[in-house]
Amino acid sequence: MSLRLHVTPAATPLNGTLRPPGDKSISHRALIFSGLAAGESRIEGLLVSGDTTATRNAMEQLGARYREEGGALVATGIGEAGLQAPEGVLDMGNSGTAMRLLAGVLAAQPFDSVLSGDASLNSRPMGRIIKPLELMGAKVAADEGGRAPLRIQGNPKLRGIDYASPVSSAQVKSCVLLAGLFAEGVSRVSEPRLSRDHTERMLPHFGVAVGEGPSIEGGQALRAADVIVPADPSSAAFLATAALVVPGSEVVLRGVGLNPTRDAFYRVVELMGGDLEILDRRTEGGEPVGDLRLRYSPDLRGVDVPPEWIPAMIDEVPILLALAARARGVTRIREAEELRVKESDRIAVMARGLAAMGIDLTEYPDGIDLTGGPSRFARVASSHDHRCAMSFAVLGLVSEGGVEIEGAEYIDTSYPGFRADLAGLGARLEAAA
Ligand code: S3P
Repeated sequence: MSLRLHVTPAATPLNGTLRPPGDKSISHRALIFSGLAAGESRIEGLLVSGDTTATRNAMEQLGARYREEGGALVATGIGEAGLQAPEGVLDMGNSGTAMRLLAGVLAAQPFDSVLSGDASLNSRPMGRIIKPLELMGAKVAADEGGRAPLRIQGNPKLRGIDYASPVSSAQVKSCVLLAGLFAEGVSRVSEPRLSRDHTERMLPHFGVAVGEGPSIEGGQALRAADVIVPADPSSAAFLATAALVVPGSEVVLRGVGLNPTRDAFYRVVELMGGDLEILDRRTEGGEPVGDLRLRYSPDLRGVDVPPEWIPAMIDEVPILLALAARARGVTRIREAEELRVKESDRIAVMARGLAAMGIDLTEYPDGIDLTGGPSRFARVASSHDHRCAMSFAVLGLVSEGGVEIEGAEYIDTSYPGFRADLAGLGARLEAAA
């Protein structure tokens, strides 16, 4: 059911300390790898949201088992028994990661499967994974334009591949590596710029050797392993931005992932002159994390975002635009054309919504120029996109008259506790009548 969210301007500073939800990318991988492994794996800090529930449900249809125990999730993987043929279509909901990673696994199985999703997911490009999978000997039928549903004819005799991906995409890279896990020989993936490396980091933890490239030799079995999921730097970025823009705020976000393939948003905050301190840098579960202290920053400056940083902040561009709307001068984002094929066309959706809120901007095929300035009330649409919805909500906290967001239920795909967390810090977001 469609949810209309009314955000009123923050009347008081945001204050408090909290741990943002578990990392979505790492949670998907923890569910898939533990579900494939032999034995029981304990996962702490897992994100429970629409997207990760799609992965868990699919893995259960394929034979893996999960149970809640003492605040953690315990997985019983299929191990040597192998995955079982699913009954019916595997529903990936809104999640590109679920669909693309599982397609890699399923292409190599001795049974057929069908992967489908919601209207947003079934309109996103899947040719980028179908191409390398077919080069490995897989058979994947898609709808026109390479869109899901994907009808996968399983082939347990895939061949390893050396694949130069034309896009920097962790979903493509992970799809090929996961298919390669079941293929004959070595599979290697290169990409123009390094995308998030959670797959390469986590597979060795489950006993799978990952070589340079990254590369993987087929035929390796996964062994159960315990996982600690850090807080999601992408979800934390919404709270961080709220703290930077609401006068008088001071917020501490604990245990946030600071993997260098994910942390560029925070580097841009520093470039803009934002008051961000990283406390207690440490490693948790093989990932660098830290506590972030953010204070209201009235003197933010617009910046040219270094294009080579884009892959390490691709999911944070919508919220960066909201932050840039509060900065003095122009912020320029380029080489971010991948945003056009996310849960929505994020360049178009953010440009439309921010312009309606009174922000001066120019849209380009691969980015936006935005001049900071006052914003005002508007009714904007999430367009099936959690991150656009949350970005509008945060800007609404400092816009004259707030903001109203249509389709705000999509926030639950990555951050079901978003409203509660903001309320805990002192902001009000209410369902509109
Ligand atoms: C993800 C990779 C990114 C990112 C998505 C999660 C992942 O997509 O936008 O939210 O978990 O591998 P691409 O691989 O398409 O860039």
